[in-house]
Amino acid sequence: MSHPDRFLLAGVMGWPVMHSRSPKLHNYWFAHYGLAGTYVPLAITPEGLEAALRALAPLGYFGCNLTIPHKERALAIVDAVDPVARRIGAISCVVVRPDGSLAGSNNDGYGFVHSILQQQPDWRADAGPVAVMGAGGGARAVVYSLAERGAREIRLCNRTVARAQALEREFGAPVRAAAWDDRHAALDGAAMLVNTTSQGMIGQSPLDLALDRLPTHALVCDIVYVPLETPLLAAARRRGNRTVDGLGMLMHQARPAWQAWFGIDPEVTLALRAMLEARI
Ligand SMILES: NC(=O)c1ccc[n+]([C@@H]2O[C@H](COP(=O)([O-])OP(=O)(O)OC[C@H]3O[C@@H](n4cnc5c(N)ncnc54)[C@H](OP(=O)(O)O)[C@@H]3O)[C@@H](O)[C@H]2O)c1
Repeated sequence: MSHPDRFLLAGVMGWPVMHSRSPKLHNYWFAHYGLAGTYVPLAITPEGLEAALRALAPLGYFGCNLTIPHKERALAIVDAVDPVARRIGAISCVVVRPDGSLAGSNNDGYGFVHSILQQQPDWRADAGPVAVMGAGGGARAVVYSLAERGAREIRLCNRTVARAQALEREFGAPVRAAAWDDRHAALDGAAMLVNTTSQGMIGQSPLDLALDRLPTHALVCDIVYVPLETPLLAAARRRGNRTVDGLGMLMHQARPAWQAWFGIDPEVTLALRAMLEARI
């Protein structure tokens, strides 16, 4: 599909939104593929979300991404929600359909899995127990995608244990909620550790997690990408664990969005990563 007669217009709605790296990412692809288009940051208040989404079609947008705090609220606004977004409980991508109606999807789990596969092609979700720290919005997509890929045991530790228990009820097996105090023990024999908390992000404390019990063959992933190497990833690398940072998830979730908006499958390359890394 191509659109020779239309300016390729998309954006990201958030509040705040200026921290988002998405405009850099998408505008790189417009330039790289020589396309007439742009991707803009849209600072939209929670109260303004419905009107902003309804304005996409008349303004000529092909769609938009959603970031904090809009991902859950949009479920009640769009005209159709795909089963993955419904299951995750959040919308990360809105597509304006030819009749102007809005379809919501969620590509965060796709981004998480394909980021790992690009860097660790032999990775398997069912290689052994997976310890996931955090039970917020990012965790929902991570847990969903791990379960989809066949993970048999997901040890889910969250500071507020009730949120982990809610995810256990919602997703059923293989999720097992664990108390925050038990997070160190949750690493025993794990094949993989994923941080989905905001700990380790710039301006936040490092994730308080002792890695002693984590096997050195385990893969360690962080979905935080500012900084690129979080204290958790640095500690894991020093003791010999393989690591995957959060930037790949951001880059890979954007590919299905381009397919849905513009009918193009853009490439996640080392040059794209280097450009984004230089701006983190
Ligand atoms: N790479 C990507 O594409 C991508 C995608 C999504 C998110 N992210 C990043 O992932 C991080 C989390 O985002 P989110 O949307 O999931 O946020 P969220 O829904 O607000 O969840 C935050 C999580 O962090 C936990 N947390 C916060 N402060 C903590 C503390 N002091 N000690 C222990 N746990 C703490 C929360 O636990 P409680 O439930 O106890 O509050 C919750 O589990 C952010 O840094 C975000 O930028 C990256």
